[in-house]
Order: sequence, then C-alpha cells, then structure tokens
Amino acid sequence: MSEPKITVLDDAQSVYVHAAEEIAHFAGEDICTHAEFTIALSGGSTPAAVYELLATRFKLSVDWKEVQFFWGDERCVPPDHELSNYAMANRTLLSHLALRPEQVHRMRGELAPEDAARAYEEELKGVFSLGDGEFPRFGLVLLGLGGNRHTLSLFPGDKAAIEECERMVVPVDVDATPRKRISFTPSVANHAQRAMFIATGKEKAEAVRDVIEGPRDPMKFPAQIIQPSDGELIWLLDKDAASLLSGRGST
Ligand code: 6PG
Repeated sequence: MSEPKITVLDDAQSVYVHAAEEIAHFAGEDICTHAEFTIALSGGSTPAAVYELLATRFKLSVDWKEVQFFWGDERCVPPDHELSNYAMANRTLLSHLALRPEQVHRMRGELAPEDAARAYEEELKGVFSLGDGEFPRFGLVLLGLGGNRHTLSLFPGDKAAIEECERMVVPVDVDATPRKRISFTPSVANHAQRAMFIATGKEKAEAVRDVIEGPRDPMKFPAQIIQPSDGELIWLLDKDAASLLSGRGST
C-alpha cells in the first residue's frame, strides 16, 4: 500500500487538463503493455469536464478501440435520465468516440437495485474471467469526493457497503437524490492498478483534509477506505480543494 501521490494545481481547469493527460498516459501505458486499458468512470459533475477534454483535445492521444469502459457506481435510473452517470459520460465522451458496443459496460440502472448489482458482478466476472472470490484489476478507477466524504456510492454510516469484503457490486440507499444506487465495493477499487481522486473547489477542502489527513474513520470518511493494496493512489486537487491540507501536496 503506497502513500498517496497528491498533485495540487492552480485551478479547476488545470486539474481537468492534468487529469485528461494522466488518463491518456495510463491508457497508452496499459495498451502498450497488455493491449487494453480498463477504466471505471466516476459520476457526479466534476469529471464531465475531463471527459469533454478526452473527447476533444486528447481524442487523438488514445487508441480508443482498445479501451473498455466501466462505471464505479450508478444511480438506479434509466440510461437516458438526467441523473444517470452513464448518460453524462455518453454525452461528454462515449458518443464522440465511435466505440464498438461491447466496449461499453453500462451498469443497468433501470433494473431493480439488487438485480442491477448482480448483473454487473456477472459482467465483471465475464469480462475479467474471474474465478470465485477474485476481483478485477482495473487499469484505473476514477473517483470523485462528495462534500460528506463519500466516494463511489459509499456514504457515511453505510456499514454494510463500506465493510463488504466478498461482493464486487452492491445496492445502496443513500442520503442523496436519487437514493437508490449501485456501487463498487471497496475491494474492487483496492485491487486496481490506479485509483485517482479528482476534487476541486473550496467546498471540498474540509472533505479533502479529513480524508487525507484526518483520523482514520472510514465509517465517517468513506473515501479513506480506498487504499489500493498493489496500486497507486492519486489525488488531483486544485489549490482551493487542497487549501486545508498541512502538506499541500506537490504542484
Ligand atoms: C456519483 C459519483 C459520486 C461523485 C461525488 C462527487 O454518482 O455522484 O460517483 O461519488 O463522485 O458525489 O460528485 P461531484 O464531482 O459532482 O462533486
């Protein structure tokens, strides 16, 4: 378990550009070494700008036909719903890339939560050829940080989801809209080659400080549970989001 690599950039736009650069770099590395790049996209609003950069300025920097797209969590809504993480990624990135349908592994938010979770576990088992008790090793799990210190859809106090050790994907009922979601369990992110948080803005500063420098309490600060056992933990922050860190990270 390596120490987090914290990069602090002047402003949000610089973070988005750096994140897109890093993703393109990771994709190139993995496609070169094992012929494909597997990425689990995050939802929310922060990554949208990164996805738009990947679809435009960095479009020619990645051999997109060798990329497999997944999601770390999804809201239990149809794929064309305004709150769907798939819909946001499709609008900002996927629809611009001429992908083969089999490259996009959508969490089926339209199903009942438990059915959607089980279906995605079967999808992961098939794509990664997993045996019982095995976890996928993603090239990159992209992560956001909620102001309440959640990540994926692992929310404070959700003991069942935060402490889940066997399952890969679980249904959750969270204190946000919409309540019903499905989420990777910590084990999936912690088996990744790289887990990368992106957080910007003053409103995230307290959450960033608590998760990175606060007392270890994943029940209160769920994002702390993300600690890849044999992979890199990366934080990309702007100065506002990093403003309460004592170490301030590298710039
Ligand atoms: C989701 C995300 C969630 C997100 C955080 C931060 O489905 O909402 O997966 O974990 O990353 O809530 O969201 P923002 O980037 O919009 O602040």
